Amino acid sequence: MDLGFPLSSSELVRKCIAILGIRGSGKSNTAKVLGKELIREGFPLIVIDPDGEYDFQEALRIDNFNLDPEFAVKDVLERKRSIIIDMNEWNDEAFNFLFKFLDIFWNLSKKYKANVFLVLEEAHEFIPQGERTKISEEITRVALRGRKRGIGMIMISQRSARVNKDVLTQSEIYFLHKVVHPVDFKVYREILPLKAREVSDTVKSLDVGEALFYMNGRVEKVKIRKYEESAGNTEAVENLA
Ligand SMILES: Nc1ncnc2c1ncn2[C@@H]1O[C@H](COP(=O)(O)OP(=O)(O)OP(=O)(O)O)[C@@H](O)[C@H]1O
Ligand SMILES: [Mg+2]
Repeated sequence: MDLGFPLSSSELVRKCIAILGIRGSGKSNTAKVLGKELIREGFPLIVIDPDGEYDFQEALRIDNFNLDPEFAVKDVLERKRSIIIDMNEWNDEAFNFLFKFLDIFWNLSKKYKANVFLVLEEAHEFIPQGERTKISEEITRVALRGRKRGIGMIMISQRSARVNKDVLTQSEIYFLHKVVHPVDFKVYREILPLKAREVSDTVKSLDVGEALFYMNGRVEKVKIRKYEESAGNTEAVENLA
């Protein structure tokens, strides 16, 4: 696949991938480019989207939580269709749906063992360090035990130090975008096999869309390409301009 740099999807299946960095550093753009390429190569995604910003044309967007969660799970596992769970409303109804969905997904994934990816935006909100949320146990289970069931995870956060450590440290692949705060440098230093000074110097100099890509013990500075919004949206924006 082409992310602006080449990467093989076979390296990613069933793995946990973390995308970290400050606000506006390009995390969601990276996740969208990566997600779109995975869909193209036949891997369905389940996107937990708290800001309603994901728009993959191939995906079913769920923002009406009267839908049968089992039907949605089977859409992914059986019909290989990606789904976006719109958590924009952030209410009990949305969380109840998400909880049921994740529970059924976990149970059925044992039977299907389909290679899918769970994309978790603003991961610190759902799996905060030292705190429980309505779905933190469900997500933790997927991160810790999902590999055998075919499940990979892509977690995204601007607050790396606030993401549950047990989950974050399951990651084998990292896109480390720019950070500035000492707390975040500390997290990066724990991840990267580089000298402390080297970490802060390189990370400070990263531009939007650039990241340190870490996989298999190797660190590489990469530039991720810009995500192309779907045709419909681009047109709408152009019409406004
Ligand atoms: N690789 C890139 N090439 C060009 N523009 C980019 C790239 N990555 C991000 N941008 C642009 O920078 C802006 C911020 O990117 P993005 O929304 O991905 O940041 P973020 O890290 O997810 O921020 P937040 O923490 O607020 O969610 C967007 O307008 C986006 O289009
Ligand atoms: Mg974002």
